[in-house]
Amino acid sequence: MDFEQFKFLKTNQLPQKIELKSTSPSNIALVKYWGKADIQIPKNTSISFTLSNCYTATQLQLVAKTKVEEKTQIKVELDGVSTPSFHPKIEKFLKLIEEYCPYVNHYHFSIQTQNTFPHSSGIASSASGMSALAMCLMQLEKKIDPEVSHDFILKKASFLARLGSGSASRSIQGKLMLWGKHAQVNESSDLYAIALKQDLHPIFKDYQDSILLVDKGQKKVSSTLGHSLMNGHPFAEKRFEQAQHNCSDLLEILKSGNLEAFMTLVESEALTLHAMMMSSRPYFMLMTTNTLAVLNAIWEFRKTTRIPVCFTLDAGANVHLLYPKQHQKNVVHFIDQSLKQYCENQQVIHDEVGKGAEIIE
Ligand code: PMV
Repeated sequence: MDFEQFKFLKTNQLPQKIELKSTSPSNIALVKYWGKADIQIPKNTSISFTLSNCYTATQLQLVAKTKVEEKTQIKVELDGVSTPSFHPKIEKFLKLIEEYCPYVNHYHFSIQTQNTFPHSSGIASSASGMSALAMCLMQLEKKIDPEVSHDFILKKASFLARLGSGSASRSIQGKLMLWGKHAQVNESSDLYAIALKQDLHPIFKDYQDSILLVDKGQKKVSSTLGHSLMNGHPFAEKRFEQAQHNCSDLLEILKSGNLEAFMTLVESEALTLHAMMMSSRPYFMLMTTNTLAVLNAIWEFRKTTRIPVCFTLDAGANVHLLYPKQHQKNVVHFIDQSLKQYCENQQVIHDEVGKGAEIIE
């Protein structure tokens, strides 16, 4: 694998002090990433929709150390409140990327970050947070070396974001991202995600995602533990094969706009993710009775109205409703009338596919 291309070696022209800014959205996987090898190498290819309204805005202030050997000071503020609980994750991230971004060792870090979605909402902020931080670092590289191409910035941002959190690699661009080597997609890589530039059926260009906050609590299974449950899992190899097939099928569906096939594939992926968790040792049940009530209500609504709305799930109890924009009015009405009752504080976040991370100059 070609790691050399990601090494930034111009450490003799570093600014003394600099402020960097970016925004980056969350994403929702259609074909799920579940199972990895070191370091953040996925066991199967995944495909996701990039979101738009759920994003993280990050300001990174770097102040040069007097000596490189000085211990790096890290300050993190989330919504203006000092959050030292983030320090270990940032320290680990900086250690993982120092080989590719040796300049990180020359600075003290002060990070101010805000999410547009509530912190304890069950929506993972690691994808948007890590990709926003990666974009800030690429803004610095661009300032030091203005020759760096836009394509390279996106590629390396995805590469760095992946080291922070695997799924973060898929937040850099939109509208659909593919991460992990796939035989049918030449440019695909395990090291970074790529935007699917293929002809996308118009129906998917403004697809909607309404997120039902069924359980806003902290994740019951951390990502690290979750992925490790696939090591030695009795169905792991079949699952990884299945995901590769599902990616092939989804690539066709995204061109053809076959919504029946889309809904079957996406729901089956979500349930398979949960089936993997239920059949691992230790085993976990992350859906709640309210999750099941929502899924049944969606199936019933789809059967009676023939409106093509389907669901997907992350590693938690919340439900994402996916549907074409033309059905927005009816689906929002359905959510208000029949589904909100299953959400904590009746909370729903309406989102849609978006274009990815941005550097703010
Ligand atoms: O990026 P991680 O390590 O938090 O893993 C994310 C895993 C899922 O959200 C369950 C699936 C996915 O592909 O996003």
